[in-house]
Amino acid sequence: MCGIVGYIGTQRATEILLTGLEKLEYRGYDSAGIATVWEGKIDCVRAKGKLQNLRDKLTNVENPAQIGIGHTRWATHGKPAEHNAHPHTDMARQVAVVQNGIVENYASLREELKEKGYEFRSETDTEVIPNLIAEILSTNSSSLLDALRQAVNRLSGAFAIAVLSGDYPDELILARQQAPLVIGFGQGEFFCASDTPALVPHTRAVLPLENGEMARMTPLGVEVYNFAGDRLKKYPFTLSWNPVQVEKQGFKHFMLKEIHEQPGVVRNCLEAYLQTEKHPQASSNSPIGNPVNLGLPEELFQDLEMIQILACGTSWHAGLVGKYLLEQLAGIPTQVQYASEFRYAPPPITANTLTIGVTQSGETADTLAALGMEQQRRAGGEAKYQSRILGITNRSESSLAQMVSHIINTHAGIEIGVAATKTFVAQLMAFYCLAMDLAYRRQVRSASQLEEIIDGLRQLPREIELTLETQSGYIEELAREFNETKDFIFVGRGINFPIALEGALKLKEISYIHAEGYPAGEMKHGPIALLDAKVPVMAIAMPGSIYEKVLSNAQEAKARDARLIGVTPKEEYAAEIFDDLLAVPMVEEILSPILTVIPLQLLAYHIAALRGLDVDQPRNLAKSVTVE
Ligand code: AGP
Repeated sequence: MCGIVGYIGTQRATEILLTGLEKLEYRGYDSAGIATVWEGKIDCVRAKGKLQNLRDKLTNVENPAQIGIGHTRWATHGKPAEHNAHPHTDMARQVAVVQNGIVENYASLREELKEKGYEFRSETDTEVIPNLIAEILSTNSSSLLDALRQAVNRLSGAFAIAVLSGDYPDELILARQQAPLVIGFGQGEFFCASDTPALVPHTRAVLPLENGEMARMTPLGVEVYNFAGDRLKKYPFTLSWNPVQVEKQGFKHFMLKEIHEQPGVVRNCLEAYLQTEKHPQASSNSPIGNPVNLGLPEELFQDLEMIQILACGTSWHAGLVGKYLLEQLAGIPTQVQYASEFRYAPPPITANTLTIGVTQSGETADTLAALGMEQQRRAGGEAKYQSRILGITNRSESSLAQMVSHIINTHAGIEIGVAATKTFVAQLMAFYCLAMDLAYRRQVRSASQLEEIIDGLRQLPREIELTLETQSGYIEELAREFNETKDFIFVGRGINFPIALEGALKLKEISYIHAEGYPAGEMKHGPIALLDAKVPVMAIAMPGSIYEKVLSNAQEAKARDARLIGVTPKEEYAAEIFDDLLAVPMVEEILSPILTVIPLQLLAYHIAALRGLDVDQPRNLAKSVTVE
């Protein structure tokens, strides 16, 4: 949450900071600000609300400064207001700080500084940092780098910090502890940001800082240190994606663009992980005949008895589909936990367990903390209890990827819309591949059984395209009919129950309509009491093991006057049951979630867009939830 940018070089900083913040606005957007240094003085401008308000304030302001920091905020301590917006300065306005994270011990530091005569102007936790740095500089430090080093050693919590000082006009100092911060290397200019979209318009040579690291950026170069003050040798690497991926490319919103990118995302995964020949020779990591090659070593799966999946939000829904696949295809008992719950009530440790962390951003604080806790509590135990951790993410440069030794890169590329769409589908693809890999390794499915599934998977990109082509216009029209709707129910069963949850989440988060997802068979145990003509019911009904059961459950809703919408293949009898039909191609039930989620994403999108809401940046939400 919150986005940080920084620049030092030969160009005017203000515009670079503002365009960088635009690329990060998806991380938080209740206020924004920038600080620059010119002629030994800090110039700090902040505005409540969207970034445009800050832009408006800066129009026609001449600022030749070539160094600066910027911030877009998602409020934690202190309501959204200009005085709480970053950057924060010390009392003398000579040190400016932007921060992403939470300083947990800010209250005691604030008291300590107040006793020394420091005055505070905001309700934020961050304001202690510039004052602490000023205090250290005035008493026992000879450099800004050392002052920040001493300061961070007194902070507890998770944070990424960028600091400027009027007394050090050619230095931008950074520190990272459990919140992302990446440095970009240009020609005679250097950048920093919470996330790479702000860097790629300038450079693809990047260096993500690791926890406990600091950096000193000057116009001459970048030095990296640890919190003990030791200089570290670090080298940037080149990002594989390009600036076009962070543009809307003619779509009205990023979310719509990302929905339409899904056929390509599925193709990328198929290309990356499935062997092209039917019975390929084994690579070093893939047994002979295994049609899947995720590049994962055998020791990760040795004597495997259990899998636990840790994730939040949409990634948790992907985990539920993953559980279905891992249990039904590979026969491995699998638990799916909310990372935020797991942290404080972990189940007893089980032997030979693989833990999978799923996160599109690779930065979700709860997921990283839960994985870290699992790593720690298993360390030093008997071999069979030791941690085996696998990450699933589309951000191979993220904190998750730094933390775990094995990842499945879902190849979805970066997602900008706050509502996850293509990253969800890519996570599902990762689970299909993992479940097939395990099924093959454990010899519970033959190569030919797996080939059948693979043949089905290979059809999916075209089937998603068909769904988009045939349904988009119809769904946009249908969306108009829910202009006044206040509540929505989504039902599904089996492998499509998580899709009901996902459909409800998409609708909630971008249209602000109250929506609930239920296993269709559970409706009669309570939620059916909610139904009347004003509450539409979306039923995901794919032919397969529980098709008739879902149809009966749907009829029960219809009998209570609910308007019944079906996500189902276009069969004659379907038109009789459902009031509206969101048609998807007929596929094997086990493959259907990749198709059934598409109309639900489109419906949520069009309802929100027609209501004139900010689809890509819904209220109160942020793309990367880097606080607890
Ligand atoms: C998805 O639409 C949501 N914005 C949210 O639930 C998200 O999935 C969740 O915060 C987890 O994020 P992650 O995948 O980056 O860990």
